[in-house]
Amino acid sequence: MSVILAIESSCDETSAAVCVDGKILSNNIATQAVHAQYGGVVPELASRAHLQNIVPVVDVALKKAGKELKDVDAIAFTQAPGLIGSLLVGATFAKSLSLALNKPLISVNHMQAHVLANLIPDRKPEFPFLCLTVSGGHTQIVLCKSPLDLEVIGETIDDAAGEAFDKCAKLLGLPYPGGPLIDKYAREGDPARFQFPEPKIPNYNFSFSGLKTAVLYFLMNAGKSQIYKEAFTATEEERKKFIEENLYDICASLQNRIITILLKKFAKAAKDLGVKDLCIAGGVSANSGLRQAFTEMGQKNGWNTFIPEFQYCTDNAGMIAITAYYKYLNKEFAPLTVQPAARGFE
Ligand code: KG4
Ligand code: ZN
Repeated sequence: MSVILAIESSCDETSAAVCVDGKILSNNIATQAVHAQYGGVVPELASRAHLQNIVPVVDVALKKAGKELKDVDAIAFTQAPGLIGSLLVGATFAKSLSLALNKPLISVNHMQAHVLANLIPDRKPEFPFLCLTVSGGHTQIVLCKSPLDLEVIGETIDDAAGEAFDKCAKLLGLPYPGGPLIDKYAREGDPARFQFPEPKIPNYNFSFSGLKTAVLYFLMNAGKSQIYKEAFTATEEERKKFIEENLYDICASLQNRIITILLKKFAKAAKDLGVKDLCIAGGVSANSGLRQAFTEMGQKNGWNTFIPEFQYCTDNAGMIAITAYYKYLNKEFAPLTVQPAARGFE
């Protein structure tokens, strides 16, 4: 039997999970509310909140799983990528525990973990499968040959999909993170009302910065044009009124464009590589429009589709734990000298 305690602290979620023989028994997540008022994550505040949260978060994860520290066989933590100050808190905590308990340490890549969140449920994709990982910092198409053999075959050349959601939400005057709010308003709107541009990017790569700029100009022109200085005649009052009156349709149209950009490339990769099992992962995979369109795409093409439960889509230690489980089986342990890194698996 293996009992793995996993810790995730790469951004603004402090999370701990317990995994027993590949089953997640607890996945405790403390979200940091402090960042909402700043319109984005403030790294220094995130590090301090992790320090405050980590002991109680780990304690509750163990209790929920009915385990104690003495039962733990290995300690896993997110090594990269992420905010370095945030990663340091989880890494230092995990190293200290490993030293104190004399149990092995397992370092986990956060992006690999997002993909492997799809191996948590009983119904698992078969290898090789493709995963579209869409988060606040990354947009990748990953070819998964085995749990520990992943290859990034396409990624964004500028903004991530989650960033597109959040930045456009900010332009619409919505609080951070705006992705879930756009999702909510999009359900009430007409996705065909406004046509936002689709970038022409080669291979399996993505680009979202042009979309953000188009939305900016569209709002500056109060919906009359998406071209720079075409009009820009709208006063702030007119702009606000336009957003107020059309918020649901703007959100639906914008979300629809982000989804079509993502799924067109994903479908192309699946067809080219002849892969039949497809997964989505990362914070944006919590988006209800993407989940639905992805499922329909699978049905239409005869592909098996897999989506993690909501709690395993956004940042969580459950996905770190499942990845650590496969590393544990392979005896891939990290030395106590291992260092967290802001970048990796890109
Ligand atoms: O994976 P994640 O929790 O953190 C990163 O590793 O970046 O992803 C966070 C991103 C944010 O951009 C957030 O707006 C987006 O996921 N997100 C959503 C939804 N829920 C979270 N975007 C669209 N619709 C949602 N329902
Ligand atoms: Zn993430």
